[in-house]
Amino acid sequence: MAHILVTGGLGYIGSHTVVELIQHKHSVIVVDNLSNSEQSVLQGIYDITGVLPAFEHIDICNKQELSNCFTKHSPIDAVIHFAAYKAVGESVQKPLEYYTNNVYGLLVLLDVMRAHNCNNLVFSSSCTVYGQPTELPVTEQAPLQKATSPYGNTKQICEDIIQDYITSNPLFKASLLRYFNPIGAHPSACIGELPKGIPNNLVPFITQTAAGIRKELQVFGNDYNTPDGSAIRDYIYVVDLAKAHVASLNRILNNNVNKACEICNLGTGTGVSVLEMIHAFEQATGVTVPYSIAPRRAGDIEQVWASTSYANKLLNWKADTPLIEIMRTAWNWEKKIRGIQ
Ligand code: NAD
Ligand code: WQD
Repeated sequence: MAHILVTGGLGYIGSHTVVELIQHKHSVIVVDNLSNSEQSVLQGIYDITGVLPAFEHIDICNKQELSNCFTKHSPIDAVIHFAAYKAVGESVQKPLEYYTNNVYGLLVLLDVMRAHNCNNLVFSSSCTVYGQPTELPVTEQAPLQKATSPYGNTKQICEDIIQDYITSNPLFKASLLRYFNPIGAHPSACIGELPKGIPNNLVPFITQTAAGIRKELQVFGNDYNTPDGSAIRDYIYVVDLAKAHVASLNRILNNNVNKACEICNLGTGTGVSVLEMIHAFEQATGVTVPYSIAPRRAGDIEQVWASTSYANKLLNWKADTPLIEIMRTAWNWEKKIRGIQ
């Protein structure tokens, strides 16, 4: 059993990862400032696992409080760092807030880890670092494109900071996990995504439209160079994604890594179009999603999906939950939080 500090552990991906960590017998300390989550998520974690993880209501940018937390829970064997702001559009409006929270937040975390001799890190990166790749599926060797949003830039800068820190500290090990599009909820419907306001992401918009909260879904563009004209992404089940974190963490803890910094795509390897996503939801649930075709969304890329062979081999892991099943979990979660039978 290792002591794992999870920043952003009450958020969407963090909460699912905390569940997997507990189920793999790790002891978890959740650090979250509740800027995009609710404390009630702890109850959901407890309902699934029967374990209530330690919770510290702390902003990671507060060095003193974070340091006190490391002292209180010493020794911390590793950190999984989810805490960040993640809305691409909002980052264009609030770049300073995004650079502060995502980049300064990481610097504070690394500084506190250094002070407490904690040398193991798993970091949430994103496929956004690839932009529109010239070759598909996109491998970890693909050149990174200049970021098209402050959010995307924070992920590139954070990856560079971690790699530079590794160069300076031979004991430090990290994995940079580049997620594609996480979707779905825990099969228990005890935890899931809790988007605030109007969702930016496709699946929460689909489920809210199906629940009658939104009148119709706008499909952003049907004139892309894809088989049905709508944009293509690699949608990965959040529980599969969470499991990859445990696999990656265990490599680091067991000193099994090939390199001090391992970079991994986390996706399914299959591209799915927006229209196919709508139809998969309808097929999975029997609920119709009203939609119309709208202009392309500014900044969207046409198509991207992951090369998964490196992650599959390295982590001995595969994201293989069928899309239909994932859509059912997303719908069950939406129904639960809306009180729909
Ligand atoms: P989320 O917003 O649901 O979770 C982030 C959590 O971090 C929230 O609980 C929030 O309250 C907390 N937090 C934010 N700033 C904090 C701070 N300064 N101190 C303490 N807690 C703080 O987001 P998510 O979807 O779970 O994403 C987790 C990570 O994965 C993020 O780093 C995000 O950039 C990255 N990521 C997400 C996606 C996606 O589509 N969801 C894709 C690729 C990468
Ligand atoms: C998916 C597809 C939309 C809503 C974002 C971030 C990326 C990463 C994952 C964090 C696109 C279309 C959407 C709607 C639609 N996050 N769509 N109608 O844009 O691929 O990626 O989340 O790192 O950085 O950019 O995800 O879910 O917003 O969109 O037609 O109402 O669905 O145009 O083609 P995206 P998304």
